[in-house]
Amino acid sequence: MTALPQPFDESFRAMPHAVFSKLRDEAAVHRVALPDGAEVWLATRDEDVRAGLADTRLSVNKAHSTGGYQGFSLPPALDANLLNLDHDDHIRLRRLVAQGFTPRRAETMRAGIQTVADRLADGLAQRLDSDGVADLVSEFAGPLPLTVVCDLFDVPEADRQPFASWVRTMLALESPQQVGEAISKMHDFLRRLVAERRTAPGDDLLSALIAARDEDDRLSEDELCSLAFLVLGAGIENVQHLLSAGFLALLRHPRQLAAVRGDSSLLPDTVEEMMRYAHPNLTAIRRFPTEPVEYGGVRIPAGDTVLFVLASANRDPERYEEPDRFDIRRRDNMHLAFGQGMHYCLGAPLARMEIGLALEALFSRFPVLRLAVEPDELRWQTSFRSHALCELPLTR
Ligand code: HEM
Repeated sequence: MTALPQPFDESFRAMPHAVFSKLRDEAAVHRVALPDGAEVWLATRDEDVRAGLADTRLSVNKAHSTGGYQGFSLPPALDANLLNLDHDDHIRLRRLVAQGFTPRRAETMRAGIQTVADRLADGLAQRLDSDGVADLVSEFAGPLPLTVVCDLFDVPEADRQPFASWVRTMLALESPQQVGEAISKMHDFLRRLVAERRTAPGDDLLSALIAARDEDDRLSEDELCSLAFLVLGAGIENVQHLLSAGFLALLRHPRQLAAVRGDSSLLPDTVEEMMRYAHPNLTAIRRFPTEPVEYGGVRIPAGDTVLFVLASANRDPERYEEPDRFDIRRRDNMHLAFGQGMHYCLGAPLARMEIGLALEALFSRFPVLRLAVEPDELRWQTSFRSHALCELPLTR
């Protein structure tokens, strides 16, 4: 048997978009091996990724896998989340969850997010005054979504430090033992928070989810904790990475940076272009066909693992003119950074608002910000799943 190609090597880590571009030019769908040897199908073109994410014959439930790559596993009590469920189970949960995740809730958070973004921008300014260099990732892009998620659940002030340290340990994914301990502490904390909000409900998302009802149906304790856990992962990491890499794109395009700084009507399209060009999730979560399916003329058997490559679809020349060009005036930017179909990101309105307010805070606080190192000195954490900046050192 011929060995499968392994595209996720050193050259991929150095230039993931160049590797995806080559794969996309060669074929719509590839069978490849992941670094640990697990086999997956990669779908690289916009048309297939768009269709595949909305295809109900593809399941996100591991029960339909016949043994390939299955993705990250959590303890069973935290695994009953939206991104592991299909069809009726998913619809039921999403309907209940949507009662808490309203665009109105995101809107009521606007003033609070603005205050946090302004405070963090002041901190960044102080660091620049004292040290001459400040890291956007650790001083701004990371703390902003962490605080927003704490506010979303109304985490008590006294619990915020330990909460932040468990989140950092979980996201760093460095030592499996430490990650396991942090997950278990976070789970205990979420159970306590759920119990407290049951007896003393507040105005927060958790209280709204506890109160959510669909006729006689309601969310169980495990479902509440799983959901809170998913929001922690999805809501902090993605915003942090998108803001950092998106801001880098702006810094590297000074004329566009000057244009949006001078004309706030360009802000919404700038946020969308940052999403298309710099979103951190290279692939959507893994899917398993429940029956044989055909994409790009390739037949994929039931039970195999399919990865739809969002980063490649978002730079498909069949869809976008000069796709590798960062262009805040791009028209018809229907990117797939938030996914597509039934699992479309529930946090999209909140994420868009956070990124927009973050940019406004940075623009109003700093007339000039520059990269403090050469672009090729920047460190990225890259796997087949994600591409994220470790630091973004800035200077005035
Ligand atoms: C820039 C920031 C964000 C990006 C790029 C992003 C991206 C995504 C993507 C691609 C999916 C679909 C995954 C798939 O189908 O395989 C998703 C789902 C989800 N996201 Fe986000 N997300 C972001 C921010 C957020 C925030 C702020 C929250 C919550 C506070 C959130 C909560 C969720 C949830 C709950 C789902 C699962 C929806 C479902 O399965 O029905 N996300 N996100």
